[in-house]
Parts: sequence; C-alpha cells; structure tokens
Amino acid sequence: MGEKILLKEKKYQETLKLARALLVKGDHLISQMANLSALLYRQFSFLWVGFYLVDEQKKQLYLGPFQGPTACTSIPFGRGVCGDAWKNEQTIIVPDVHQYVGHIACSSESNSEIVVPLKMEGKVIAVLDIDSVLFHHFDSVDKKYLEEILGFIS
Ligand code: SME
Repeated sequence: MGEKILLKEKKYQETLKLARALLVKGDHLISQMANLSALLYRQFSFLWVGFYLVDEQKKQLYLGPFQGPTACTSIPFGRGVCGDAWKNEQTIIVPDVHQYVGHIACSSESNSEIVVPLKMEGKVIAVLDIDSVLFHHFDSVDKKYLEEILGFIS
C-alpha cells in the first residue's frame, strides 16, 4: 500500500512538471482544458477525464473538453457529483459511485470518481471530473495534486 502511494506521488510529480510546461498563460481556456484532459488521460489509467463548464444563466454545467467515452452534456447545479462539487465549491471523492445519492451515471463502467472545482477570481467556473473503473481509486494524494495542477490554468 505504501509503495502504491509512493508510485502515485512520483507519477503526479512528473505530471505536475508536464502540466506546468503545457499550460501557457494567454492560451485559450478551452485549449488549456483540452490539453490537460489529454495529459491526465495519458499519464494515468483513468476511464474518463474532462471538464464541465459553468453556465451561470442556465444554472447548469455543460460538457467541455474531455477524453474517454461519450458523456452527459449538461448537469444542473447541485445535481450529481459534479453539480455538488460546484455547489459546495469543494473537491468530492467518491470511492463507490453506486453508493452516492444522486450520482449521474454517464458510463456503466465507472465505479469511482473525483471532482475538483476550478475557481477563477474566487468563483467556480468549471469542474474537473475524473472517473475510474476501479473502486476506491481516488484519495487525498489525487486531491492534493489535481488541485495544484488546476492552479496552473489561467
Ligand atoms: N458522474 C458525474 C457525471 C459526469 S460523468 O461521470 C462524465 C456526476 O455524477 O456528476
């Protein structure tokens, strides 16, 4: 178990460096999201990596750049893991999606999930959603690094 965590830390440290180089200030937000999704998808064995963007007027999230199977196109505020992470403005780790009340199943292959809000000027403008076929895939290590990596988006 300890070794597994060390390996994960190492992989994230490498990913951190790559993300820092990849996410260039001045690039369009969508381009940065697209490249970050691709980077995370290639670095780890995730089922799905992508962004849902905030539509303040419609009070819902809409599907942004992603890698993996096709996904739901919109998610209302406070619905599903993504809508809850937006509402609570906090990262949510779901060890078993089948136990999460209100979970929105876009893929029947997903068994665990992490959703990290992306804030700009104090407001949530999008969420990063990652799904895994494994149960209990995500922990505080994923949370720590993914939050740090999202800080590179500008
Ligand atoms: N499971 C998410 C929906 C998005 S898909 O996982 C890509 C949720 O409950 O918000």
